[in-house]
Amino acid sequence: MPKRTKSSGAWLNEHVHDPYVKLAQKQGYRARAAFKLLEINEKDKLIQADTVLADLGSAPGSWSQVATELIGPRGRVFALDILPMEPVAGVEFIQGDFREEEVLQQLVDLLNGQKLDLVISDIAPNMSGNTVTDQARSFYLCELAYDFAISHLKPGGQFLIKVFQGAGYQEYVKLLRESFAEVVVRKPKASRDRSNEIYLLARKLH
Ligand SMILES: C[S@@+](CC[C@H](N)C(=O)[O-])C[C@H]1O[C@@H](n2cnc3c(N)ncnc32)[C@H](O)[C@@H]1O
Repeated sequence: MPKRTKSSGAWLNEHVHDPYVKLAQKQGYRARAAFKLLEINEKDKLIQADTVLADLGSAPGSWSQVATELIGPRGRVFALDILPMEPVAGVEFIQGDFREEEVLQQLVDLLNGQKLDLVISDIAPNMSGNTVTDQARSFYLCELAYDFAISHLKPGGQFLIKVFQGAGYQEYVKLLRESFAEVVVRKPKASRDRSNEIYLLARKLH
């Protein structure tokens, strides 16, 4: 068995005692991340009964679970992840690497011309520990998510995306401002303080 490092032991300890982990288990969510979306949605009312949305980097599926609970029969949820995802009733899922043209095309085919009200992206690459590389990989995915959002959102549509503060952050905010009327920052309580992740909510696509 691999030797447990001090930091992985600390992570495990924090995870076991994390109130959001317990709450997720109790409420049947697959990840504590559900509470990040729930909190943002409480404030910003992103998901309505008739919302048609795409969930990028969706596995294990807690954001998709939240989305399907909030939409009604006229809403739709499309989801994509490089990892497999246990089916979520009502979610149309594609497994594949979002960086690959064919995978993006599969998602576009699934949309079948349907424009979206909302794109939510919690996509994050596996962290290698090399901050410079990780940050660059992360923003590359964020740029692809932005390209997808501006191509498939309805005018007036919204885009919620997780980013990591650091190199590239200001440029990314600037990019969002080119296409959206407003960009606001959200740091939900379930997002750990020591994590430099934050969520950007870009509203009203031009
Ligand atoms: C923080 S998790 C998402 C958690 C999810 N929002 C939930 O509530 O269950 C980030 C996801 O991004 C996915 N991801 C990373 N790189 C990807 C890529 N190139 N293409 C598709 N998905 C990717 C990972 O597989 C991972 O499942």
